[in-house]
Amino acid sequence: MKLVLLGPPGAGKGTQAATLQEKYQIPAISTGHIIRTAIREQTETGKLAEGYIARGELVPDDVVVELVRARLAERDCENGYILDGFPRTLAQAQIMDETGIGVDVVLNLEVEDEVLVERLSGRRECKKCGAAYHIAHNRPKVDGVCDSCGGELITRSDDVPEVIRKRLSVYHEMTESLKDYYRKQNKLMTVYGQDVVAETTRHVVEAIEKAEAAL
Ligand code: AP5
Repeated sequence: MKLVLLGPPGAGKGTQAATLQEKYQIPAISTGHIIRTAIREQTETGKLAEGYIARGELVPDDVVVELVRARLAERDCENGYILDGFPRTLAQAQIMDETGIGVDVVLNLEVEDEVLVERLSGRRECKKCGAAYHIAHNRPKVDGVCDSCGGELITRSDDVPEVIRKRLSVYHEMTESLKDYYRKQNKLMTVYGQDVVAETTRHVVEAIEKAEAAL
């Protein structure tokens, strides 16, 4: 299965991707996580992307497409993948179609902007593996420590009010139109995010199974 997770910042793409990766045994690929790792390692791409992330803007299409293309060429993607946060512009979606980066199902997570602000403000992310937690809704077993890999939990530099607002406006301006793009291709499934992570997961799995049955 080749799955795209679409949705605004904080909708729960990363949280659901982690569960789906286990369930379907295919890799979850987060462009945000790849870019943040590149920034930490100060690679050429990381240096280029740093300012965009800090301002809450999108990193240029050609840079992101190249990162995804390289990651998808790895062997663990042979049986499918979960793309979290890609594509994010019409141009990225068109490049995917033109270059044969396949998509079977696009799962669109819908959550109100006010809820997103609260989620992002309380998010803590694992510095090492990128797993997402929340100080109220999704706490780690031990404060400050990732359940999955034992890494340190930090607040992302783009999870501050001013940058969160910018990211939301960029989503509405640049990414939301992808819903229509994939609706026209009969690939869009929409799930309304619930207050409890496991409830959202239940709806997500139901939607994927329905979409798979129709493939
Ligand atoms: P990226 O890392 O992709 O960030 P994002 O899209 O802004 O999404 P988030 O990671 O913030 O949220 P999420 O939907 O994964 O939610 P999460 O599961 O963490 O991108 C960052 C930046 O990289 C971009 O701004 C851009 O600059 C660049 N970039 C990335 N991809 C790009 C691309 N393709 N093109 C160009 N630039 C690109 O959940 C959020 C919080 O809510 C957590 O605390 C979680 O525990 C909690 N939560 C989750 N689900 C629930 C629930 N059901 N109930 C209650 N709480 C919940």
